[in-house]
Amino acid sequence: MSFKTVEPATTRLNRCELAVPGSSPRMFAKAAASDADVVFLDLEDSVSPDDKAEARKNVIGALRDVDWGDKTVSVRINGLDTHYMYRDIVDVVEQGGERLDLIMIPKVGTASDVYAVDMLITQIETAIGRKKRIGLEMIIETALGMQNIGEIAAASPRNESLHFGVADYSASTRARTTGIGGPNPLYGVLTDPDDAGRREYHWGDMWHYAISRMVVAARANGLRPIDGPFGDFSDEAGFRAHANRAAILGCEGKWAIHPKQIGPTNEVMTPAVAEVEKARRILAAMEQAKRDGQGAVALDGKLIDLASIRQAEAMVAQAEAIAA
Ligand code: GLV
Ligand code: MG
Repeated sequence: MSFKTVEPATTRLNRCELAVPGSSPRMFAKAAASDADVVFLDLEDSVSPDDKAEARKNVIGALRDVDWGDKTVSVRINGLDTHYMYRDIVDVVEQGGERLDLIMIPKVGTASDVYAVDMLITQIETAIGRKKRIGLEMIIETALGMQNIGEIAAASPRNESLHFGVADYSASTRARTTGIGGPNPLYGVLTDPDDAGRREYHWGDMWHYAISRMVVAARANGLRPIDGPFGDFSDEAGFRAHANRAAILGCEGKWAIHPKQIGPTNEVMTPAVAEVEKARRILAAMEQAKRDGQGAVALDGKLIDLASIRQAEAMVAQAEAIAA
C-alpha cells in the first residue's frame, strides 16, 4: 500500500439513483415511496427554460413537505455556465431545510467549478446555521471534465460521488451516437479469418474507457462511482447488460430515468448471494492460512492470497451495508 491513505467519503447506499424532473411534482410522492436509495430532483436538463423558476419552487416544497423516509435526497442544479445556477443553490439551500443531503453538479469541468459551488454552499450553511453538511455529487459528462477528473474528485471534502453522464459526454466528445448509453453496432472488431476463412464480428463497449477512468478517479479519492442514464427504458435486457458491466468495473450504482429501471438496478448493484458466500469462504480459508503461517492457499482449485482478502472484504462490506 502507499503511505497515503484514502479516506472514504460519507458512506451511503447508492445502488439506484432515481432521476425526477423538478417540473413534475406529481412524481415526487411516488419517488419517495420507491425502492431507490437516492432520489435526485432535477432542475437541469429535464426542465425546460420556461419552467426553471417553477421547478425550483416545486423542489423546495418537496424538500420541506414530502416524507422522504430514509432516502438520500439530492438536487441537480443547473450548470455553472447558466444564470440559473446561483439561484438554484441560494434558494434551495436557504429554503429547502435540513432534508437536503446532496447537491449534484452537472457538466463539471474543473476543480474550480467544485470550489465555487463549495464556497457558495459553505456561506449559506453558515449564515442559516445548518446542522448537516451538504455533500456533492459530480457528473463527469464533458471532455473537459474527463480530462480534469482527478483534480475534480479531490476538489472538496464535500465530494461523495462521481457519475458518468453518457448523453452529454457523447455530445461533448462528438461520439457518433444519438442514443443515451448502450452499444453501437459500428463499434466492434472483425476477427481475422480462421482456417475455413470464417470471420466474426464482435461488438465492443464504446463506454469502457470513460467508465473505467471514472471508477479509478472515484476510488482513488474515496468516492462512489455511479453509472448514469440508459435511455431505452423499454429494453430491460439491454439495461441489465449495461448496468452489469458498470457494476463489474466497480460502479456502486446506476441511475434510473424511469421507475421500471429501479428493480433491475437494485438487483444488479447488490452482490449476488453466491458471490458473497464465496467471499466469506475466501476469508475463512485465508484465516486458516494465516494460522498455518501461509500467505497463499488453494480454494476450489484456484489460488487465493492476501489480495483476495481485500477483494472479499470489499464485497462482504458492501453486502452488509445493503442488508443493514
Ligand atoms: C446525464 O446528465 C447525461 O448527460 O447523460
Ligand atoms: Mg447531462
